[in-house]
Amino acid sequence: MVHSRVARSLAAPPLPTRRGARVPHSVFRSDRSGALVVEGVPVDRALAAAGAGTPAYLYGRGAVVARFREFREAVSPARALVAVALKANALPALLAPLRDLGAGAEAVSAAELLLANGLGFPAERLVLSGVGKTEFDLDTALDLEVRFVSVESAAELDLLARRAARRGRRARVVLRLNPDIAAGTHPKIATGVAGAKFGMAEPQLLEAAEQALGSPGVEVVGVHAHLGSQIRAAAAFRRGALRLAGLLRRLREAGHPAEVVDLGGGVGLSERDGSPEPPFAEYAEAVLEPLEGLRPEAEVVFEPGRCLFGASGALLVRVLHTKTAAGKEFLVVDGGMSDFLRPALYGARHEVVPARRRDAPERLFEVVGGVCETGDSFGAARSLPAPEPGDLLAVLDAGAYGYSMASNYNLRPRPAEVVVADAESFLARPGETPAGLAAAALETALAPPPAGAGSRRPAPAAAGINRVLPA
Ligand code: LLP
Repeated sequence: MVHSRVARSLAAPPLPTRRGARVPHSVFRSDRSGALVVEGVPVDRALAAAGAGTPAYLYGRGAVVARFREFREAVSPARALVAVALKANALPALLAPLRDLGAGAEAVSAAELLLANGLGFPAERLVLSGVGKTEFDLDTALDLEVRFVSVESAAELDLLARRAARRGRRARVVLRLNPDIAAGTHPKIATGVAGAKFGMAEPQLLEAAEQALGSPGVEVVGVHAHLGSQIRAAAAFRRGALRLAGLLRRLREAGHPAEVVDLGGGVGLSERDGSPEPPFAEYAEAVLEPLEGLRPEAEVVFEPGRCLFGASGALLVRVLHTKTAAGKEFLVVDGGMSDFLRPALYGARHEVVPARRRDAPERLFEVVGGVCETGDSFGAARSLPAPEPGDLLAVLDAGAYGYSMASNYNLRPRPAEVVVADAESFLARPGETPAGLAAAALETALAPPPAGAGSRRPAPAAAGINRVLPA
């Protein structure tokens, strides 16, 4: 079960629930008339103008861009590459402006790499990380000639060296350290602690580096660590950077052309207003100071995700009805854990607010989705003015790890994604449809093909490209 302090650390910023007195939220705020507005556009109008139904994600593009600029400005004293973590949000309409501003992309799969490449992110701004890369993932990185691959084990280093050697190439590698730093976040997203599957403890990492020295297929160009996500202690980041600086020195001494310190992502959001916490300036100071003495100067890579997208997006859902059971009032909405998993998976608190103020007395509701799981709840004891069926509600701070973690569980279509930019909204990605989902399921095989039917295996694309072994 989620410890309450931990659950709080994942919390979205709370808004006062008293009607008409909501504090300005970083992106979504109530205007004087009681409409929830994003970048000047009431959310209900944004949805209607884009022709989207519910559930739907709605983002403020200006906010994403502003956060990226602020982040980059904060780390600008360093020779820095800011590679956006695509796992947080991979919507092209949000990524394209970041690309134009010089962002790179951090990918954890071949598809994320192909997406970034297709969007025109230059190869020297792409990095591949992740604990379970397949041959296909590694080959894709090699073929695209990405900046570097973050390697998490000796076995992976060996595999990459072989795949590169086959191509007559030498892969640039950063070695991922598991620094064993407890950063005070939820256990499911604490990645830099001993016992987690990520990275290598220092002795293993140094052994892997040694192994690389004798291999023509790889060269170690730096070090990497990612402590975890939704981290709010600058001190933890500082300790991580100190460890990486020490390690980079050792690798240099051992003869590696090591110049990169990849600090991963992890900056959290404040509970108060969705702003980055620690603030970018404080974060930058904490991580850059330990790197100052490195000569030659290191190239510093950052992989922010949540702090760019989180507060910039909301999930919009409609009220289906209310029902009472065991003295509790449920507010049943048309979105659920298949659309937005964080509350169910981590016990994360995300505020639920009406899209239009309703002059009705507030009551306490548990806001639940329609998925067949008791855990499919957006939050218990939420105070809301008694809503009517059809009312639009917003689940706030859902811009990171929202759509990207959506699924088709219960054969529910994934939601649409709508973007507000320059005071206008547009449909950035249409939602799936029930008919489309059913049709896709009906295209699958019912039984093995009859003997002798030979070549009637599904085409690779239908079988899932990432499962097809490259030639
Ligand atoms: N780099 C690496 C290697 C990562 O594993 C991650 C996130 C990031 C960067 C970006 O971290 P961020 O800046 O977004 O904290 N689904 C979870 C979060 C999982 C994060 C996994 N790794 C959630 O909804 O809280």
